[in-house]
Amino acid sequence: MTENNVIARPVLVTGATGMTGSRVLAQLRELGVPTRAASRSSEWRFDWSEPQTWEKVLEGAGSVYLIQDDTNPRTPEFVERAVAHGVERIVRLSARGVDQPGYFEGVDGIPSHLEGEEALRSSGLEWTVLRPGWFAQNFSEGFLTEGARTGVLRLPTGDGAATWIDVEDIAAVAVAALTGPGHHGRTYELSGPRALTVAEALTEISEALGRPIRYEAVPVDEYVNDLLEQGWPKEGAQELVSALSAIRRGLEAKVSPGVKEALGREPRDFTEFVIRTFDAQWA
Ligand SMILES: NC(=O)c1ccc[n+]([C@@H]2O[C@H](COP(=O)([O-])OP(=O)(O)OC[C@H]3O[C@@H](n4cnc5c(N)ncnc54)[C@H](OP(=O)(O)O)[C@@H]3O)[C@@H](O)[C@H]2O)c1
Repeated sequence: MTENNVIARPVLVTGATGMTGSRVLAQLRELGVPTRAASRSSEWRFDWSEPQTWEKVLEGAGSVYLIQDDTNPRTPEFVERAVAHGVERIVRLSARGVDQPGYFEGVDGIPSHLEGEEALRSSGLEWTVLRPGWFAQNFSEGFLTEGARTGVLRLPTGDGAATWIDVEDIAAVAVAALTGPGHHGRTYELSGPRALTVAEALTEISEALGRPIRYEAVPVDEYVNDLLEQGWPKEGAQELVSALSAIRRGLEAKVSPGVKEALGREPRDFTEFVIRTFDAQWA
């Protein structure tokens, strides 16, 4: 199958309403690539917990942007179905640190991401794995929006910093891998260009919004109790604090080379994300 044949058939975009999927979809559409927006509430209805919905979205698709549902990870089964349907190429979102024992405190890597990556590598398909660090858009669309909304963000991250990646860059790498040559068999570790502590990130957002936003470092146990009081399941709360532990322990301050490797340019800076995002319309 040639590059053109892969692109001539639609790209199935899972998580199409989410932080990465919505941008992958938009960037593909801008290039005129045929797409299928898939999720429970998207045009192409797709539910990880209903395998019968997988068949229709896969039929006739040439390639797939794949994110897992972390609460119900089923990449290996899905990849099998994709192969059966003649899909040629899959680009899968994973996470930085999943292959490093001890990276996430209290858990041994993130088995579901590692299993998902392995399913791609042994599938015989063309594959690319994206391993991003923490998303900048967690502050504007994800679980860190509380800070910008209420003026206080409580987290168990101490003075730890992260090289927050702009999700537009994750999408750009995904689109390059879905539509172009040279990305098969690559595992890209993705980050932004510089490390900022949570307090520093909030200072930039606060300046853009023109109102004070404060970071409050909280002990891990206290944070877990907060999450449980908010109705989080115990397992989910534990996974989140394990993931956040990589920031607290300085592991997420590392700059990764994946954006430059894949796109030949530097990743976008956090300040650019803040200026673009936190204007008068943000709420
Ligand atoms: N946030 C970070 O900083 C970070 C860092 C590294 C890696 N990651 C990884 O990123 C992945 C999440 O990607 P994202 O942030 O782009 O997504 P997201 O913004 O969390 O959105 C989740 C998407 O999945 C869809 N979805 C939810 N449940 C579904 C189900 N049962 N069946 C089908 N679709 C479902 C949702 O749409 P509907 O509601 O319409 O179904 C939505 O489009 C996770 O695997 C996470 O481990 C995140």
